[in-house]
Amino acid sequence: MGTTRKWGRGGAAYAGRVPEFPYARLRRFPDVEAPNLQAWDATDELLVARALTVAAEHGIDGSEIAVIGDGYGALTLPLAAAGLAGVRVHQDLVTGRRALARNAAELGVTAGLGVTGFAEHELDTELLRGARLVLLQLPKGLAELEEIADAIARAAAPDVLLLAGGRVKHMTLAQNDLLGARFGQVQPQRAERKSRLIVATDPLPVPQDPPFPVSTAHPEYGLTLCAHGGAFAGDRIDIGTRVLLDVLRDRAAELVALSRRDGFTAVDLGCGTGALAAALALAIPDARVIATDRSAAAVRSARATMVANGIADRVTVMLDDAGSEIPDGSVDLVLLNPPFHLGASVHEGAGRRLIDAAARILRPGGEVWTVFNSHLDHRRALAAAVGVTEQLARTPKFTVTRSVRR
Ligand SMILES: C[S@@+](CC[C@H](N)C(=O)[O-])C[C@H]1O[C@@H](n2cnc3c(N)ncnc32)[C@H](O)[C@@H]1O
Repeated sequence: MGTTRKWGRGGAAYAGRVPEFPYARLRRFPDVEAPNLQAWDATDELLVARALTVAAEHGIDGSEIAVIGDGYGALTLPLAAAGLAGVRVHQDLVTGRRALARNAAELGVTAGLGVTGFAEHELDTELLRGARLVLLQLPKGLAELEEIADAIARAAAPDVLLLAGGRVKHMTLAQNDLLGARFGQVQPQRAERKSRLIVATDPLPVPQDPPFPVSTAHPEYGLTLCAHGGAFAGDRIDIGTRVLLDVLRDRAAELVALSRRDGFTAVDLGCGTGALAAALALAIPDARVIATDRSAAAVRSARATMVANGIADRVTVMLDDAGSEIPDGSVDLVLLNPPFHLGASVHEGAGRRLIDAAARILRPGGEVWTVFNSHLDHRRALAAAVGVTEQLARTPKFTVTRSVRR
């Protein structure tokens, strides 16, 4: 960037000098912000630089470009700032979507970048139909990559060029194999600044049915889980979740008593595929339950889970950041299996955010039942944010607590 580029067909609108993009001004907000957490990385810069070259060489317009996995705008906004209008973008996390919108508004105005004109999509045909260039920040999970690669091969143009990038330390040969199942040519590039791009072309014929969602029955808990590629634990039940499910089953009578409160509302905060919400709704047939997660893949999975268990009419599934759309002091019971990762890094802030959210949405006397890895200091955090916290169960690895809102 910062050089004069010669654009190919359709390039008149963005011919000329590409502005130096002010990456350092991107913010993660409302996602957790900390000195060691950055809103962009070298992979973003490599992807953008290569995409601008490819677009110029092949005469690709902005509307023929799709971006998948943009964290906070570091892919979409430099393309838009370079004059590529109508880029389609999919971000799984609602926190990333909100950050992109804020960064676009902030940089468009204060840095005079004029970065409007991109279009947000779910991971669907509209995102990818006829796309000739796709930029992808490689996801953490292989199932998520499988779903994305399939979606691209299914809907993009036959001459599509996929630029997939990641940090070398997080990349595996299994990623190449997955891409190879959907593309005839998969070419890893030389690593630069600890990041690497993979170029994939020649999409292969796809099977009639997409590979996701998958689903599995779990008769031991009387429920079926459905999962898209990006959902936590897939259609399996995670061991921590199992420990909390066992507590819910053993203490069903206490839950029924709690559910007799006027206007009883329960929330599965960070619901993933919706195992906790589904178990609760099945155990208490007239309970109103909200399942909410910041990941679109989780929300799509949880909706499918509720349909599969015949409880879609009683469980509302919401894409939201830490229950921000749930009013303060409106909830009687929160079920919480908090995350311990933020992207690729382990960070306590991820779980703390949901603990603080539980404290905010609970009514006085309301309860949060939490499962967490015993080495984490969540018990103290729960006591400080919510109120008196007692241990309900403990296994070699996990602790379940009940905290009552003061
Ligand atoms: C450990 S998983 C638990 C999933 C599910 N409750 C279960 O037990 O299988 C944590 C979940 O929290 C979600 N999450 C993380 N941060 C969040 C936030 N700020 N707002 C909403 N959900 C969040 C993640 O997307 C993930 O699905």
